[in-house]
Amino acid sequence: MKRGGIVAFPTETVYGVAARYDDEKAVAKIFRAKGRPEDNPLIVHISNIRQLPLLAREIPVAAEKLIKRFWPGPLTLIFKKTDWVPPRVTAGLPTVAVRMPSHPVARKLISAAGVPLAAPSANRSGRPSSTRFEHVKKELGGRVDMILDGGKSRHGLESTVVDCTVEPFRLLRPGFVTLENLRSAVRSVAVAKKAGKDSRPRSPGMKHAHYRPACRIHLLSPKSWRAGLGRILSKNKKVGVISLTQKSPRDPKIVFSHHFRNNAHRLANKLYDLFFKAEEKGVKALVVESSLEKGGVRLALMDRLRRASA
Ligand code: TXA
Ligand code: MG
Repeated sequence: MKRGGIVAFPTETVYGVAARYDDEKAVAKIFRAKGRPEDNPLIVHISNIRQLPLLAREIPVAAEKLIKRFWPGPLTLIFKKTDWVPPRVTAGLPTVAVRMPSHPVARKLISAAGVPLAAPSANRSGRPSSTRFEHVKKELGGRVDMILDGGKSRHGLESTVVDCTVEPFRLLRPGFVTLENLRSAVRSVAVAKKAGKDSRPRSPGMKHAHYRPACRIHLLSPKSWRAGLGRILSKNKKVGVISLTQKSPRDPKIVFSHHFRNNAHRLANKLYDLFFKAEEKGVKALVVESSLEKGGVRLALMDRLRRASA
């Protein structure tokens, strides 16, 4: 990858936009292209485990277990950083987030660059992450030097983020490597509480608005489904519906309707794509059924939905 250049590329989670991790000019260009707050650090992507010591100063034994089990894949680990990682990448934090993606195009790009690549998700700040080439074009077209087309992202939600600098390790962002998966590999993993108003957020990204499409998102539980949907239909001209178990009425105002037969995994795979589709259809209010069942990927799904509807 040329110095100064930034490239959008597919990964198995969502699309990313990459710069050489040691290229401060290109890293600054990523922040500008996304409109990303300067205090929100980037994930550094590697294609070979030999690149890890370049970034991480200390690798706890338990983190090695997570690496063995889940890399390459949708898991990001936070370590104490080395002096080689520029402060701009980590937003001045003494730690660095590292991920080894499994997508062949992502791996080839990193190998070709010959150095780790700093890359956030390929969307304008605050918006849903891109899971298709077309989304990246809409979000960042003209703002990046190149977009590599890898079709649609397999998982469709961002990687699980785990802080390995604290004891016990702490889950900062749930994802397709689930809390149960993590706990089966290392004895205990804590879950980060939502940051309070005056406390410093555990992950800088937690305090910013996230995953929001142009339409308003309304989360409804199965219990409040009928009444809630009725109220929203009475107030909006174009309504979209995404449900897991509930039926939606026939109503000409519903221009967009997807039912997932209680398959939360499939919904998680398609969530952002449906956000983009709802926007295209001019949906003003998008009603999404919240999951009552817990566990597995539902934790990640509900995390994104809560933030998108906040
Ligand atoms: O699946 C993914 O992780 C995608 C693909 C492209 O790899 N990337 C992605 O990056 O979602 P981004 O920048 O959208 O999200 C990175 C998250 C942010 O919430 C950020 O605050 C957090 O990771 N993060 C990065 N470095 C951190 C650090 N040193 N300590 C705590 N949180 C960190
Ligand atoms: Mg992002």
